[in-house]
Amino acid sequence: MRILFISHSFNSLTQRLFVELRARGHEVSIELDIADSVSEEAVAMFRPDLIVAPFLKRAVPASIWQNHVCLIVHPGIVGDRGPSALDWAILNREPVWGVTVLQANAEMDAGDIWATATFPMRVAMKSSLYRNEVTNAAVAAVLEAIGKFERDEWPIPLAEAGKIHGQMHGQLRPLLRQEQRRIDWQNDDTATVLAKIHGGDGFPGVLDSLFGTPCYLYDAHPVTAIALAATQGRAGDVVARRDEAVLRRTRDGGVWIGHTRRAPGADDLDKMLKLPVAVAFPAETAALPELPVSLQRPEEEWGELRYREEGAVGYLSFDFYNGAMSTAQCRRLREAVLQARKRPTRVLVLLGGDDFFSNGIHLNCIEAAAHRPDESAADESWHNINAMDDLALEILTATDQIAIAAMRGNAGAGGAFLALAADLVWAHEGVLLNPHYKNMGNLYGSEYWTYLLPRRVGAEQARAITQNRLPISAAQAAQQGLIDAAFGRDAGSFLREVKRRAQALAESDDYAARLAAKRERRAADEAAKPLQAYREEELARMRRNFYGFDPSYHVARYHFVHKMPHAWTPRHLALHR
Ligand code: COA
Repeated sequence: MRILFISHSFNSLTQRLFVELRARGHEVSIELDIADSVSEEAVAMFRPDLIVAPFLKRAVPASIWQNHVCLIVHPGIVGDRGPSALDWAILNREPVWGVTVLQANAEMDAGDIWATATFPMRVAMKSSLYRNEVTNAAVAAVLEAIGKFERDEWPIPLAEAGKIHGQMHGQLRPLLRQEQRRIDWQNDDTATVLAKIHGGDGFPGVLDSLFGTPCYLYDAHPVTAIALAATQGRAGDVVARRDEAVLRRTRDGGVWIGHTRRAPGADDLDKMLKLPVAVAFPAETAALPELPVSLQRPEEEWGELRYREEGAVGYLSFDFYNGAMSTAQCRRLREAVLQARKRPTRVLVLLGGDDFFSNGIHLNCIEAAAHRPDESAADESWHNINAMDDLALEILTATDQIAIAAMRGNAGAGGAFLALAADLVWAHEGVLLNPHYKNMGNLYGSEYWTYLLPRRVGAEQARAITQNRLPISAAQAAQQGLIDAAFGRDAGSFLREVKRRAQALAESDDYAARLAAKRERRAADEAAKPLQAYREEELARMRRNFYGFDPSYHVARYHFVHKMPHAWTPRHLALHR
């Protein structure tokens, strides 16, 4: 079928549906929801059999839904309506939630039901639930709806669907406002504080204050009794720091808060970026006592980096918020890789974060540097990409172990190439890769990609991947040889299988031969062209991106970090144009 997506942005859910439907042979074109007239024009040009709206912030115009079947993906159970579906579900601590595909009509979210899928809720940030459970449920429900549409079946009116789905029937809920998200530090227990911050993460956040400055809070994690015992203070007090987060006490415990965004009203726009707390409030955070943790520690003790060993396999995870990796984070991770390399293990598994493997250099931190005296976005970009390269180099040259990149979440731009620095790259079936830089203002990219990509897929395919700028599913990536294997339906089953395979590799009879082959290949590649040469060539291009006359990268980054609305749909997405 010809399927037109109308979507607020080409976000992860939209990308996932895009790759799933294309893999099933549908022709999918995309129009970003910019204005009714633009969507109408897209429909006229593409003449779709079906319209799907994976992620909308406003209603579909009547001129479209009256003439075409238009499927709306709503992140709520049957009967649930309103713009804050997941936020409410998290705040109300619903045990089960779902996604419903309904037909657009005159009333928002009240159309006939085509399909629905449910999932057990997890204590997690809204954005994490969205990228995992909601996205998987949306794929299942959209595929079911498309199947029905192709078989000429009809959707069920909401009133009847309610009877079929019994108690699992939602209701119309209004926009969740800041008054309802507000944390009462004296009376809310830790679970409530977490639910409130999780329910607003990544957007809009919970309006509160830090160090006497109004700001939104994000990226919260519970503290352990041991860490808490090392601090003193009352509920609401900010008492310690770790990584770039601060610890705030609650009535019955405490929460680590990793990210913040100053509230509007601040004197300039850069203060309204979402930033690590230590970057947003450097002096105030530095004055707090530090509660560092070792890489190997109990599971419940929060920290961005974690290392553990099982037999001859070392597992290093780096759970950076949004997968963005600042200069400081790259350097800390490089130190951790160096430590892991010194261990007497045979296999090193790089696990990335829970939600993202990596999304490359930290564009928000770079943007923030533009507004500090004696610093610039160009300089910070330069430091960050060099720190990324230093990190990639340690993975590439780890010749005493077999390195595996095991992607539990999506990877984009430099983060996708960082994974390719490992000997083996595995991902689960729901993972999306965006192994290209061009969307960020024609950024050339580094991370030794000019070495890593062609050696996996060949020069021609490498060119296609970087020029097409489209998301690639794990299955597709495995087919192309971009990664080595895609298995497991979700992160949980994937990790179990990763452990089994990594263990088997460490114990395999041909382990020594494999390691020897790796060393030989590295030496031969180095003799043919040293890694330093690839790096210098890439960085020469990056220098032009950062410091040259063409400001495209700086403009694109500014638009990205400030979430400027799209003015038009990129032509590589809008096939009809
Ligand atoms: N630096 C800072 N923040 C980043 C980031 C980066 N490199 N990559 C993603 N993010 C943030 C987004 O701003 C967003 O923030 P939010 O918490 O305010 O929502 C969040 O991560 C999720 O990103 P989003 O774009 O909504 O996720 P997605 O899964 O829909 O899309 C990407 C993933 C990778 C396609 C997209 O985030 C992207 O293009 N990122 C930039 C990659 C890049 O150019 N890196 C620099 C070159 S190495």
